[in-house]
Amino acid sequence: MTHFLDIHSTAKDDLRSIIDQAQAMKRARNNRPRGTPDDELPLAGRMVALIFEKPSTRTRVSFDVGVRQMGGQTMVLSGSEMQLGHGETIADTARVLSRYVDLIMIRTFEEATLQEMAEYAEVPVINGLTNRSHPCQIMADVMTFEEHRGPIRGRKVVWVGDGNNVCASVIHAAGQFGFDFTFTGPPPLDPEREALDFARAQGVGVTIERDPARAVEGADLVFADTWVSMHDPQSAKERRHNQLRGYQVNEALMARARPDALFMHCLPAHREDEVTSAVMDGPHSVIWDEAENRLHAQKAVMRWCLGV
Ligand code: CP
Ligand code: NVA
Repeated sequence: MTHFLDIHSTAKDDLRSIIDQAQAMKRARNNRPRGTPDDELPLAGRMVALIFEKPSTRTRVSFDVGVRQMGGQTMVLSGSEMQLGHGETIADTARVLSRYVDLIMIRTFEEATLQEMAEYAEVPVINGLTNRSHPCQIMADVMTFEEHRGPIRGRKVVWVGDGNNVCASVIHAAGQFGFDFTFTGPPPLDPEREALDFARAQGVGVTIERDPARAVEGADLVFADTWVSMHDPQSAKERRHNQLRGYQVNEALMARARPDALFMHCLPAHREDEVTSAVMDGPHSVIWDEAENRLHAQKAVMRWCLGV
């Protein structure tokens, strides 16, 4: 079974071929009139379950549209409305869904839920975000960087703020795609050790730098994300804001990066908290391309999972 659970657990060659296919499909798609299906319909006759235990705009819409463009059909399911939310085990849910659908995408809380779904499903499972990682996002982000600036290998990528799930996937990608990674944020919010160790073991530069101005010097790409993630208790909000106020990505900080540095944010953003509108809407920002590329990257991920 070919699951797409994480960037570090997917082979480097497969990651590269997914990005290549995403780029080819994007080019083909953008040469066609809006509103027409793709030339190829590799998902014709296939049904995809999209399960959400957390809110979503981009993941939900991009997966749904992507499946339909490839000729398949979707059902969007909310965890709380399924028996899953009322005590049925993940394993039993996985076994049952496998009798109906050809592919399962799940956005959930615990990593263990994703792993259990993958273990018991008889169809491929895709990680649509957990508390620990967000691999589909970073596939789109690598694709976006390379579209604008060429190969990401050997570049300097800086994460500013909370060392969260999206940050962990950037670190996994550093190891797999071969770019240097710098984290800047306060010590309690450091990225998870396992991800850092993985990247280091692949031989890429991994740096923790508490001073954001020093961290972004020479950066080719600067990332920000929300200071309070969906899995964080809302009671953490005030403390997080106090911890992270000095780590806002603003024009002064971007001016310390390379002149041609890109700015990325997976969205949704909290304007004037983790990033200013001047940066989001400014010349470094490629946030709308990132959002668009979720569609193309995930279409390639689904084709890879299904072998079609
Ligand atoms: N970036 C991202 O995953 O957005 P959604 O939460 O809207 O899906
Ligand atoms: N870190 C954020 C990403 C949202 C797409 C969260 O988990 O809420």
